[in-house]
Amino acid sequence: MSESLRRLYKDPQTAARYLSERFGRLPWSVADKYERAAVAALIEKCRPRKVLDLACGPGRITEGVSVPLGILADANTAMLGESAGRGNGGWRPVCADAFSLPFHDSTFDLVCCFRFLRHHYKTEREKILGEIRRVLVPAGRLAFDALNAKMSKFAARYAALNESKIHDEKYTPETLKQEMTACGFEIESLTPVMQHLRAYHIANIAARHRFFPGLRRRLVELGERLPSRFPFSWVVTAAKAVTL
Ligand SMILES: C[S@@+](CC[C@H](N)C(=O)[O-])C[C@H]1O[C@@H](n2cnc3c(N)ncnc32)[C@H](O)[C@@H]1O
Repeated sequence: MSESLRRLYKDPQTAARYLSERFGRLPWSVADKYERAAVAALIEKCRPRKVLDLACGPGRITEGVSVPLGILADANTAMLGESAGRGNGGWRPVCADAFSLPFHDSTFDLVCCFRFLRHHYKTEREKILGEIRRVLVPAGRLAFDALNAKMSKFAARYAALNESKIHDEKYTPETLKQEMTACGFEIESLTPVMQHLRAYHIANIAARHRFFPGLRRRLVELGERLPSRFPFSWVVTAAKAVTL
């Protein structure tokens, strides 16, 4: 992770503005909606008892989700402060460094880790994945987001405009599988998210000029149902492999 990004997250102003700035508008609001839906569906299906939302920020990804034991962990107290009082009732905030987690081995059934792994370089990701693997029970699961190296050219230009200062690792399904296997995980599913960025961009402009009210929402909902060969990202679920 770049030093500038590390500093940015420590800033209380960043914490306060994080949700509205990062997810308050198209196309990023689409990522927010469908990432959260994927995590909620996974929790509904697998019924994990103990869940860790790692590098949780203001608790975006697990907001409104109810589990028997939920831990929100972040290195920055300003971010944890933002999670308090939002829809993560019952989740316990813990100030923790992802490189050295203050939890026993085999504690969690599920670790969610969004907008975090991808901002790190390879050796850092390996360390964090090692810690996640350690705190997961055997066959426990990890859910995270990964960017598609083969996203459309439009999406790549759009992303570069918005995230030029941030390292964002990109994968093909094959390179993702290689990295995860090497770190002791078996990929179970890739759920595409933000499938038609160009269409959402056009809908956004139309809506701004007050043409076709409701077009935006309907186009996004339709778009996310239509498979694209070039989705922007995936929600990845992976299971802890028996051996490393
Ligand atoms: C881009 S935000 C992601 C927040 C949330 N997971 C989401 O998807 O919206 C990255 C978060 O990682 C936290 N962070 C940065 N370095 C960390 C570390 N070493 N250990 C734990 N959290 C860290 C930051 O404070 C920030 O809240």
